Amino acid sequence: MPKVEISPAKGKLGVLLVGLGAVSTTFIAGVILCNKGIAKPIGSLTQLQAIRIGRRDENKNPLIKDILPLASMQDLVFGAWDIFPDDAYQAARKAAVLSEKHLLEAKKELEKIKPMKAVFDQNFVKNLSGTHTKRAKTKMESAQLLRQDIQQFKRQTGVSRMVMIWCGSTESFIEQQKVHQSIDEFEHGLESNHPAISPSMIYAYAALCEKVPYVNGSPHLTVDIPALTELAEKNGVPVAGKDFKTGQTLLKTALAPMFKYRMLGVSGWFSTNILGNRDGLVLSDQGSFKSKELSKKSVLDYILQPNLYPQLYKDLYHKVRIEYYPPKNDNKEAWDSIDIFGWLGYPMEIKVNFLCRDSILAAPVVLDLALFIDLAQRAKMKGIQEWLSFYFKAPMHSPSVYPEHDLAIQHMKLKNTLRYLAGYEPITHLGLDYYSYWD
Ligand SMILES: NC(=O)c1ccc[n+]([C@@H]2O[C@H](COP(=O)([O-])OP(=O)(O)OC[C@H]3O[C@@H](n4cnc5c(N)ncnc54)[C@H](O)[C@@H]3O)[C@@H](O)[C@H]2O)c1
Repeated sequence: MPKVEISPAKGKLGVLLVGLGAVSTTFIAGVILCNKGIAKPIGSLTQLQAIRIGRRDENKNPLIKDILPLASMQDLVFGAWDIFPDDAYQAARKAAVLSEKHLLEAKKELEKIKPMKAVFDQNFVKNLSGTHTKRAKTKMESAQLLRQDIQQFKRQTGVSRMVMIWCGSTESFIEQQKVHQSIDEFEHGLESNHPAISPSMIYAYAALCEKVPYVNGSPHLTVDIPALTELAEKNGVPVAGKDFKTGQTLLKTALAPMFKYRMLGVSGWFSTNILGNRDGLVLSDQGSFKSKELSKKSVLDYILQPNLYPQLYKDLYHKVRIEYYPPKNDNKEAWDSIDIFGWLGYPMEIKVNFLCRDSILAAPVVLDLALFIDLAQRAKMKGIQEWLSFYFKAPMHSPSVYPEHDLAIQHMKLKNTLRYLAGYEPITHLGLDYYSYWD
């Protein structure tokens, strides 16, 4: 297998986070604590996962990070924007995810991370109003100010490369419009303050103009519009999204394939969540909820393929609810009530009650995405990175194919891409025994 040419991870990697809330601060504090040897990066494939190379009888299982030139956690430098001026320590305290002990151990480093002023528009996030925001006459001017922030961050920190990850609030649902269809129309829209250009699109535009890879961790429309995917291709920048797959949907995309693999029917799937963090507050607005609902709901249709198996899945009733319930804070509780049917149509029920910690699940996803999208850029990969679908609820995909949601397939695709990048054969699971069935 020819080895792909990947430039080395020389120097520091700047991780620019849009939004300095629960997910971002849990991620940053986690990296600091791991670098100090106080905690372990549980949940991160880039730090912990082994990858089989060659046949099973060869017993070669190096770590992913040992076969590819990933940036090291020690080389990460953080920058952020937020609509509130709290530094990362204050923001982490308010998010109330980490223990007092952990917060104090990372305090010195967290206090140094002060957010830059944000580009914000309350039409897109109804339940928040911030004070720490940029003033600009046009959306193009806002984009220029963000580009200056990026350049200044690079100069001040001396990083050699950067990635940008949206960990900001979920914006209201909007549909693609004419202004999103080409770079020209989009730039014209920036100049004329087109109402369908959201703050997240302005951040993504600024990143792509600066040749900084962009990852969308929320479910809203951003970089998945022709204008921005075209810009990513044109500037040779990788992009990925959208909506981190962390809790209920992670479970759903592991369970649903099992029903299909065994040809068991599903008549109903009711998913409900209660959460009390700021994300929950934002999602209690109908516009932001709609972005999340569509992202969470899309998975079953693609996995179960009711068009191929109408007798098993055509009448599936799928409902998703998210309720804001402050006492839970970041400790989300999710219930899934699943009605399935088997042989001769006999019904059965499955109940799943996941008491999870949202940001604890999201932080390693942010870490892996930062390191993998940086790797992609150094491997000269550009445009939509479908091999990172594993990390997303609503994976971006090229228009000619449907998105892959099945967690096991996504994982295989991720690992085979990594094998390919490292110059190894993909694993097809057609082992030696396969050939031994015949003389
Ligand atoms: N935690 C998870 O498991 C998970 C999973 C999937 C997606 N997400 C998404 O990740 C995002 C972050 O989640 P969180 O729990 O950290 O939320 P959070 O509310 O704690 O943090 C979001 C931060 O973004 C800031 N913000 C909003 N608009 C901004 C803008 N235009 N520019 C800069 N900052 C802005 C807010 O002030 C806030 O501090 C949310 O959209 C959430 O839906 C989280």
